[in-house]
Amino acid sequence: MNLFPLLVLGCFFGLSAGGYLTRSGKHFVHNGKKVFLSGANTAWVAYGYDFGNHQYQQRRNRYLYLMDKVKNAGGNSMRTWVHIEGDTSPKFDHNGYVTGLDSDGSFISDFKRYLDDAKARNILIFPCLWNGAVVKNPGPLGGLIYDTHKLQSYLDKALIPWVKAVKDHPALGGWDIINEFEGFIKPGELNSEPCFDTTPLTKAGAGWAGHLYPAQPLLRFISWQADAIRRVDPNALVTAGSSSQVSQSDQWGDRNYYSDHCLIKAGGKQNGTLTFYSTHTYDWQHKFSADATFLHNADDYKLDKPLVIAEFASSSGAGMTIQSQFQYAYDHGYDGAWSWHANNGEGDWDSTDLQMQGIATLRGKNGTGGQVAIHL
Ligand SMILES: *[C@@H]1O[C@H](CO)[C@@H](O)[C@H](O)[C@H]1NC(C)=O
Ligand SMILES: *[C@@H]1O[C@H](CO)[C@@H](O)[C@H](O)[C@H]1NC(C)=O
Repeated sequence: MNLFPLLVLGCFFGLSAGGYLTRSGKHFVHNGKKVFLSGANTAWVAYGYDFGNHQYQQRRNRYLYLMDKVKNAGGNSMRTWVHIEGDTSPKFDHNGYVTGLDSDGSFISDFKRYLDDAKARNILIFPCLWNGAVVKNPGPLGGLIYDTHKLQSYLDKALIPWVKAVKDHPALGGWDIINEFEGFIKPGELNSEPCFDTTPLTKAGAGWAGHLYPAQPLLRFISWQADAIRRVDPNALVTAGSSSQVSQSDQWGDRNYYSDHCLIKAGGKQNGTLTFYSTHTYDWQHKFSADATFLHNADDYKLDKPLVIAEFASSSGAGMTIQSQFQYAYDHGYDGAWSWHANNGEGDWDSTDLQMQGIATLRGKNGTGGQVAIHL
């Protein structure tokens, strides 16, 4: 049978496969079109207990519910926390070396099933590996930050096999190495090397989760993982979510610790750099700081890569509605907006449905900010 007419028809009606998310200069591209990433943080269903050891099967109904919500609101992407502090993944031996992704070898099938579920809903997933904003059990993760042999065991036994298994999955958006390392960095440390001098971070309240690590090993931790991902998949998109722009731009007296320059300086690896920047924006006492994303165009930060506002909420939005926050990100040159966080239920934070109203503001948009609807 000659399939050619079917293929031609398929393409004509837009049924062709959608390809992968890539970066072109300061923007994201999917299927040849500039794309704006619109969606929510998941961020987890059971904190640190979602993937591996067959856990996804127990969490799956809730994940499907949240992904359906985002899909129905017209969103295209979600950021999902995976290891966090390593409670169930990766697997550590009692000396702090990583021996695998989990205890029973099901992590990869768990995660692939999640990506399949996301693909069926045209949602790109951005796994966030670690968390520096809350410290409950610093031992295992601290070992990876301080000891490069332990870090290498994580790369060899967990990260590289994971990247190999999913790099060709159309629902894989990109990798976020660590959420807000500013939480457990030591602020106020003088260093003749500006990349390792954390005095600019004292004004931002850095170290709220404990003054645990100097800048250099933290930046090396990011850089070695970025390099390992890129060795397996040179086209992978890699980021690390900063707690604010205080640590991710060189404007207004801030310092960009996430620059290629600082990551290479700390890690000694030419490819240990980010593909795009991502930052979080919350108010403080009902006001945004003068450098906050919702007060600026993305270009004001003079960065060399795409920039996503990867966490925000109207409940900490200095009076902005969630709708106006999504619209602002789209209209001011940002490359994406993910609200915090879809699996909500805590305190005064935006409810799931309120976040969906924000996402729905950008449903079907295809202006200069980029295309929001994607087909995976
Ligand atoms: C960096 O990545 C590029 C593209 O994959 C590769 O050609 C180059 O050898 C890598 N450099 C190092 C130092 O690993
Ligand atoms: C968005 O607009 C571009 C042209 O600017 C066009 O090529 C593309 O097909 C449009 N996408 C959608 C989903 O309409």
